[in-house]
Amino acid sequence: MSCPAVPIPSDFNKDLYTPLAQADPEIQALIDRETYRQFRGLELIASENLTSLAVMEANGSVFTNKYSEGLPGARYYGGNEVVDELERLCQKRALEAFHLDPAVWGVNVQPYSGSTANFAAFTALIQPQDRIMGLNLADGGHLTHGAYTPKRNISASSIYFQSLPYQVDPATGIIDYEALEKQVQLFKPRIVICGASAYPRDWDYARLRKIADINGSYLMMDMAHISGLVAAQVQNDPFKDCDVVCTTTHKTLRGPRAGLIFFRKDKENDLEKRINDAVFPACQGGPHNNVRSLVIVRNFNLDMSLHSQTIAGVAVALKQAASPAFKEYATQVIANTRALGAELVKHNYKLQTEGSDNHLVLWDLRPLGLTGSKIEKICDMAHITLNKNSVPGDRSAATPGGVRVGTNALTSRSMREPEMRVVADFLHRAVQLGLKAQAEAGSKLLKDFVARLTGDGEAAKELEQLTKDVHAFAEKFPLPGVPRSEEIKRVE
Ligand SMILES: Cc1ncc(COP(=O)(O)O)c(C=O)c1O
Repeated sequence: MSCPAVPIPSDFNKDLYTPLAQADPEIQALIDRETYRQFRGLELIASENLTSLAVMEANGSVFTNKYSEGLPGARYYGGNEVVDELERLCQKRALEAFHLDPAVWGVNVQPYSGSTANFAAFTALIQPQDRIMGLNLADGGHLTHGAYTPKRNISASSIYFQSLPYQVDPATGIIDYEALEKQVQLFKPRIVICGASAYPRDWDYARLRKIADINGSYLMMDMAHISGLVAAQVQNDPFKDCDVVCTTTHKTLRGPRAGLIFFRKDKENDLEKRINDAVFPACQGGPHNNVRSLVIVRNFNLDMSLHSQTIAGVAVALKQAASPAFKEYATQVIANTRALGAELVKHNYKLQTEGSDNHLVLWDLRPLGLTGSKIEKICDMAHITLNKNSVPGDRSAATPGGVRVGTNALTSRSMREPEMRVVADFLHRAVQLGLKAQAEAGSKLLKDFVARLTGDGEAAKELEQLTKDVHAFAEKFPLPGVPRSEEIKRVE
């Protein structure tokens, strides 16, 4: 039976019922512009994806109204009977999506994002000033795995903990497990962290477990980048060997922006409580049941601005990630990366590790005498979005020698191997015209380079044509979440 019809008020609350386009045309116009940008551009940033309509709908629901500090069945406020069901369902789906036995693994689905998930995991596992080891930032590691420079502790993970990075073998680009083993023997970290933001190969978890066991360290995997591929079982399984597994939900997993922490329940009987207490109240307040907002967290007097946590949207994404279609998607992501990489190699470009096992290639531009920043800039101007990235051996993080190229978002637009060859050709043209612009500029400065791309020289003309070709190509493919592309407004 439906509810009674209650008229919309005409008082000071009437704005609460006005749709966005009417209530705030300025914001609506920005959303329209962003939709058009995503539709006619090519998204190659490996840490992004294009989520589904269902996730976006769940993200914009009335769950945004509810405070739910605590855990299902043990909340600080009342009125959480539906949220409890939502969070329990999300937990169940998280375990199912990663093929986990609930007797062995538990999960906290409240972290606002990947960085807070990692910090909460550290808070649960170790004490301030304890030692951690993660992959070096310049070798593909993430900031939150202990990044620091000679003059500055960059990340909270190096401010509040002692950190020593490990590296890839400069000759092969593969994790140098032997060197790591030696470092671990000396440094005796409490946590060995695996996982990366720019590593094109899979992880040897059994070997890492042995290394962690030398000192009885925890083995923590941050599978943020590859979690969709892990769920689809097209990468090695970190859950066999790790104690704690963290992830974001918005990269290959293709959900809304959030984080998850998985923990083993069968090793230390208080680990579940430590993880849950570390998320709330140690690092966060009330979980975000659906919507994006800005939160200030105080931890060890640390102020951090965070992204959103959206449990309803995460639950939807996890259901999708457990489907046979998602396995096909993840399989195609890898096939696409391989096709794209092979095409770049055909043009004689150098890829780190000479290829990829996952969703990204790391393209070393140093042999061409071009920086990652320049190629990022050209591609941006041509509406191909990718990011500059250091490649192992780079001297300066400020001028990284490569770019990171991911296929996860394009695969969400139903592009396959033939399309990857077209995209590789666009990238080849971008690099060739980059070389031309650099020669025309007569200097290596970025500003002189950009001036050549906007002037009336040969490079600028070629860039204009490339941009047109990118638009014409991208507009042939659907944009997830937008069922009627003909309704996308052409707004510059
Ligand atoms: C490996 C890894 N961990 C954690 C994060 C941080 O995630 P977030 O930006 O959601 O805090 C990232 C982000 O790119 C990442 O690559």
